[in-house]
Amino acid sequence: MERARQLQASGRDIIHLEVGEPDFPTAQPIADAGMSALRAGNTAYTPAAGLPELRERIAAFYQQHHGINLNPSRILVTPGASGALVLLSNLLLNPGDTVLMPDPAYPCNRNYVHLAGARARLIAPQTVGDAAPDIVQLEAAYDETVKGLWLASPANPTGAVIPHTRLIALGQWCDSRQVHLMVDEIYQGLDFSAPASGSRAMGDLPSALALGGNTLVINSFSKYFGMTGWRLGWIVVPEYLITTANILAQNLFISAPTISQIAALRAFDADVVEILEQRRAAFRQRRDYLSSALTSLGFELPWQPEGAFYCYADISHFSDDCEQFCQRLLEDHGIAATPGTDFGDYQARRFVRFAYTSALPRLELAIERMAKALA
Ligand SMILES: Cc1ncc(COP(=O)(O)O)c(C=O)c1O
Repeated sequence: MERARQLQASGRDIIHLEVGEPDFPTAQPIADAGMSALRAGNTAYTPAAGLPELRERIAAFYQQHHGINLNPSRILVTPGASGALVLLSNLLLNPGDTVLMPDPAYPCNRNYVHLAGARARLIAPQTVGDAAPDIVQLEAAYDETVKGLWLASPANPTGAVIPHTRLIALGQWCDSRQVHLMVDEIYQGLDFSAPASGSRAMGDLPSALALGGNTLVINSFSKYFGMTGWRLGWIVVPEYLITTANILAQNLFISAPTISQIAALRAFDADVVEILEQRRAAFRQRRDYLSSALTSLGFELPWQPEGAFYCYADISHFSDDCEQFCQRLLEDHGIAATPGTDFGDYQARRFVRFAYTSALPRLELAIERMAKALA
């Protein structure tokens, strides 16, 4: 990213396929609500768990879209999903504990675990393209130090969605082993599995919250809601963790940004969702284009890019070193992408993540440049 910026500053035209954030600005009604809050002088802290109105709004979202009746006191509003992940690691983990997570996965997770003095144990896919580990793999990876299984659906970097039936089975395994299941649903809403016309607003995926029990769910206003820089996310914890989570949140952050919380009250309104759904349609169109264009060029996409905004491409027809491959793409052809080695160890050198967070004409130009480069 840094090198891409340098090249761009020197006058080169760089196509950004490395950035994991929506290229759309925050929807105007949300931005307006933030500006009004600022003008009205709403600049004090909020309660540690967030504005009660926002927590109620989030609970209403689970009711309306997932049919889940959620006590708002189980929701803590955090500084991004990042804040939720820091909170979660310190809430659940002690030094010497272990967390299981798939390989590849969002790289910061293992760092949060490490920061809490615990260890991340990465589970390589049984078959490249698997959306989540299976029970046999979990049993093989389990020992008494294991306290958590962390998953994301849709996932970064693969865009894969864990089928709900699989999630239920994983939840049952976690219950049987008394292991906390954490599902990062930050890309929920950005799923493209159902046909465009039949899609429900805010996506079609069920939430892992439906599993009940010890499941913790993380979400964010960053991706579907397009509010990355506002730094706002949330975590849903089981009842018995509410008090400890509040104490920890108070100590770690005092509160999430107040102006952002007031702005986010607008995020679930019908006029905003209409804008967000148009953006989801644009992401779907980009996904359709990019996945088939990459495949025609000779890349393979073992993980179905069903959600988020990533294609995780196997580059082994062209190179056995993703870092060198990305470096050449950037330096010689002006395309920035992310090497697989950022996301894990298992066959990581074979993979590159392409983010479709640039407009369609830019993606077309990237494919044109890549076709020349690979020829
Ligand atoms: C899977 C996943 N979780 C969490 C985050 C952090 O998001 P934020 O802190 O902006 O909500 C990201 C950001 O890319 C992500 O991909």
